Amino acid sequence: MNESSKFWAVVPAAGVGKRMQSDRPKQYLELAGKAVIEQTLTRLLGADVFSAIAVAITVEDPYWPELAMSRHPRIVTAPGGKERADSVLSALKSLRDRADDNDWVLVHDAARPCIASEDIHKLIDTLADDEVGGILALSSHDTLKDVEDDTIVGTLDRRRIWRALTPQMFRYGMLKAALVEAEGNPSITDEASALELKGFKPKIVEGRPDNLKITRPEDLALATFYLEQQATR
Ligand code: C5P
Repeated sequence: MNESSKFWAVVPAAGVGKRMQSDRPKQYLELAGKAVIEQTLTRLLGADVFSAIAVAITVEDPYWPELAMSRHPRIVTAPGGKERADSVLSALKSLRDRADDNDWVLVHDAARPCIASEDIHKLIDTLADDEVGGILALSSHDTLKDVEDDTIVGTLDRRRIWRALTPQMFRYGMLKAALVEAEGNPSITDEASALELKGFKPKIVEGRPDNLKITRPEDLALATFYLEQQATR
């Protein structure tokens, strides 16, 4: 590893979270006494590796300025974009005067509050000497079906299928260039896919199964349980 490379975190937090059916975006729902995004940022700050964390927030979001975290000296606020990839690019641009092209960026969803420090360090330690970078991922325990309408048209080889989690870790310059090139492409649903489109081959690092993304109402209860379990380990 180049000893002078810094690590930056980027947190896309400008989604509306339609599937939560709640009165506010899911990153502001309460989870174990704090907002979901506060739990997530507490985890990232606690990992003690990031020079700064750039958070992409919807312009005129009324909830973010209410949180003390929005004024944290190591947290930078950037305007969110239409899609997740636009939000990530905006957050990367907000670091342009401070980050070097060779520095590492770990992009982590605001909606994944149970990220363990252990997993952040595992990702960094595994990929620090890699040319491209990679992502935390989970193997599939279920048999996976290829379906058209409601009919099975095939069974996928689950040994080859992994679920993409975050953080996703790439070089600042390479990631920014890939996202600029992919702008407006709806198939870019994570950072790795932007790099894949350019012909790079990101790695996967097996992550912990408790790194869930809050998506549906029942996920909050599960996340509360995971946070309690982690606190007693
Ligand atoms: O909606 P989904 O769960 O896939 O969103 C993943 C993350 O991306 C969330 O943290 C959400 O706030 C963020 N996002 C964003 N800008 C968007 C859409 C989603 O920052 N336009």
